[in-house]
Amino acid sequence: MIRRSVLLGTGSALPERAVSNAELAKTVDTSDQWIVERTGIRNRHIAGEGETTGTLAILAARRALEAAGLEGKDIGLIVLATATPDQTFPATAAKVQHAIGANGGIAFDVAAVCSGFLYAIAVADSMLQSGMAQRALVIGAETMSRILDWEDRTTCVLFGDGAGAVVLESREVAEDGPGIIASRLHADGAHCDLLCVDGGPSSTGTVGHIRMRGPEVFKHAVVNLAGVLTEVLAAAGIEPKDVDWVVPHQANQRILDATARKFGLPPEKVVVTVDRHANTSAASVPLALDTAVRDGRIKPGDLLVLEAMGGGFTWGACVLRA
Ligand code: COA
Repeated sequence: MIRRSVLLGTGSALPERAVSNAELAKTVDTSDQWIVERTGIRNRHIAGEGETTGTLAILAARRALEAAGLEGKDIGLIVLATATPDQTFPATAAKVQHAIGANGGIAFDVAAVCSGFLYAIAVADSMLQSGMAQRALVIGAETMSRILDWEDRTTCVLFGDGAGAVVLESREVAEDGPGIIASRLHADGAHCDLLCVDGGPSSTGTVGHIRMRGPEVFKHAVVNLAGVLTEVLAAAGIEPKDVDWVVPHQANQRILDATARKFGLPPEKVVVTVDRHANTSAASVPLALDTAVRDGRIKPGDLLVLEAMGGGFTWGACVLRA
């Protein structure tokens, strides 16, 4: 027997308003054809009045708790990944904690942008394994639309809003049983200017907007993801052929295809939601995971690989059995 953090339930939430490429092309100098060919994105959800990172996170958390058959009071740890918190402080995790009635435990945010969920799940797993809590809610939630420059067509067509959440529980399981088997994380601040926000409370006193040198980010993404996937599969002692589902960060269909090809994984094993949700940063992996759990693709016992790369640069991957 071995102690692992076991996945008990998943949930997600999207803003009500869906925005197609065609609708975007009415106000931005772009076209459905350009966006689909370069990225695979067809649609994204954009938060409206009253919808925030916090409200989406709370909805996703409630759905994950329901799927796990648990209540807020059962949760001792909340780790929320976001680059777009409701406020600079308090942490959005603290708002979620209060809303679901989990008061008294641990709650904090992590900032690793698009890799945020991978960072959050690794941190939560470590804390569960060290006995700091018994059950955790791990959330990725973003309202990227609030930090987009809608005049910059090279970035504003790429992102969307949403939230995803998972419930983890520390349990004794068999060696081939469920739970997180291995996680690997990395960062390299040398490239922080390639993908960043040009503002912040301590530098400009403004919120700022996303700035990205897309083609350069693309090249780093493929190399870094290939590296961390090799590393995490070796740490878990598994071969690519053993993987049932890859749940990647949803930035660009071409990155998903290139990464799958490199690993000899058939495209049918890659969960793709970038067409529907665009790049939702820290929310994209748990949103994709929840989508594939709820539509019946991911079943108990399946071996999953989650991976992401984002601003910083930061990148990471995780192997778990559902
Ligand atoms: N609509 C129409 N044309 C656009 C456009 C848009 N929304 N955005 C850029 N263009 C134009 C450019 O101006 C450029 O025109 P030019 O050739 O006349 O100068 C042309 O399209 C090609 O631009 P380029 O940036 O070279 O395109 P690309 O094939 O590299 O695709 C990205 C751009 C952003 C889709 C791609 O680089 C990418 O996905 N990068 C990774 C981004 C990413 O994953 N980031 C998140 C990581 S977390």
